[in-house]
Amino acid sequence: MNEHDSEIMAGLLNEKGLSRVDDVKDAKIEILNTCSVRENADKRFFGTLGQLKNRHEKENDFLVCVCGCMMQQQSVIDTLKSKYPWVDIVFGTHNLHTLPELLEKVTQEKSRIIDIWPDTDVIAEDLPAERLFKHKALVNIMFGCNNFCTYCIVPYTRGREKSRTPEAIIREIEGLASDGVKEIMLLGQNVNSYKGIPEDGSLGCMDFAGLIHKINDIDGIERIRFMTSHPKDLSDNLIKAFSECDKLCKNIHLPVQAGSNNVLKRMNRVYTKEHYLDLIDKLRNAVPDITISTDIIVGFPGETEDDFNETLSLVNEVQYDSAFTFLYSVRHGTPAEKFEDQIPEEVKHERFNRLVDAVNSISEKKNAEYLGKIEKVLVEGVSKNNPFALSGRTDGFKLVNFSTKDTPFEKSADDLIGKTIDIEITGTKTFSLEGRIV
Ligand code: 5AD
Ligand code: SF4
Repeated sequence: MNEHDSEIMAGLLNEKGLSRVDDVKDAKIEILNTCSVRENADKRFFGTLGQLKNRHEKENDFLVCVCGCMMQQQSVIDTLKSKYPWVDIVFGTHNLHTLPELLEKVTQEKSRIIDIWPDTDVIAEDLPAERLFKHKALVNIMFGCNNFCTYCIVPYTRGREKSRTPEAIIREIEGLASDGVKEIMLLGQNVNSYKGIPEDGSLGCMDFAGLIHKINDIDGIERIRFMTSHPKDLSDNLIKAFSECDKLCKNIHLPVQAGSNNVLKRMNRVYTKEHYLDLIDKLRNAVPDITISTDIIVGFPGETEDDFNETLSLVNEVQYDSAFTFLYSVRHGTPAEKFEDQIPEEVKHERFNRLVDAVNSISEKKNAEYLGKIEKVLVEGVSKNNPFALSGRTDGFKLVNFSTKDTPFEKSADDLIGKTIDIEITGTKTFSLEGRIV
């Protein structure tokens, strides 16, 4: 979501005649868009900001702006006021769309601005975005979260759940399709609780599965993905949508967070391990080749060795294609901050390493099953680690790197980017596949 916020800010600034520079040293405006999900991000922010002070003092026309989730926390604003009073613009998650006005004001009035809006029901529509990829786009369908997992800061920084209207979402995706976008990623903290109220005031509201059906009908769009789903509201209708909507990719990110019912309860996740495993069964029965990924937190307060072993056994049982693993990080203002039995760092790290080993060996094994298969890959661009290779994703979200030299016919990289092509998988690694064009 932060990544998409950055795309929107870039789009808004483009409209004002400003453009992105390749080297930050050439920038006249630097914007730090922050995340506050874990403490590490917080620390890096203040470090990075501190390094800008010298340049800001020397260069009169160099502006520094800070925004994002961290700005919705009063303690951060207090620190900015006392220790970083030279920052030109401070704004929050709810008034991102006002960036051009704030910039204009700061340049005209030569005074600093701190403008943080409290949570609001109003959704700013028709915002431009400078996409990172030409052929795939991020699309917000809802904002905020009502779940209040006890470790999580998001409900405090992003506010309560609010859904965009189905019409606004469809209009945006139709526009993207006519701009050449093939794949869209629907974004929300909890997409399964999407409730779309129609703009024409007609009764009834559209649920997430209904929205996917509508998007499935949009010409030009080839792939639909979404993130993130909360297991507590993953509906049978959504599971059915995987077989009913041909464009919906057979891939789901379903964060489990922990495998012990004790821990899940204290996390306020509102489901049990049994319910979660039931969902996995339902998904695999309905969509046998679905790929599944998850998020797991290690070292939540009070997590015992037995609790942790339940997480390990769940991981072994589900056999995830991939998993994002996080060390529990205390977030100021969340209920878990006050929980007793915080886990010592060395215990957290030791468990984390065991979990990562388990997760990685399963990913490696799962990827090995693709050897020799032919997969449809939507080509995204030049591979990150090899300028002579291209990379793209399979329907199941597996990253595939392949060389253009192996092409049996003359095709340049530019011809292939944005196309969906058949790739034979010739090698497999823990986090990616290798292949050749067939
Ligand atoms: N500590 C560690 N991980 C966290 N996450 C959210 N809050 C915390 C925290 N306080 C993780 C969860 C969530 C992902 C986006 O970040 O696993 O699904
Ligand atoms: Fe945070 Fe839980 Fe909401 Fe996800 S569902 S954003 S983990 S409070």
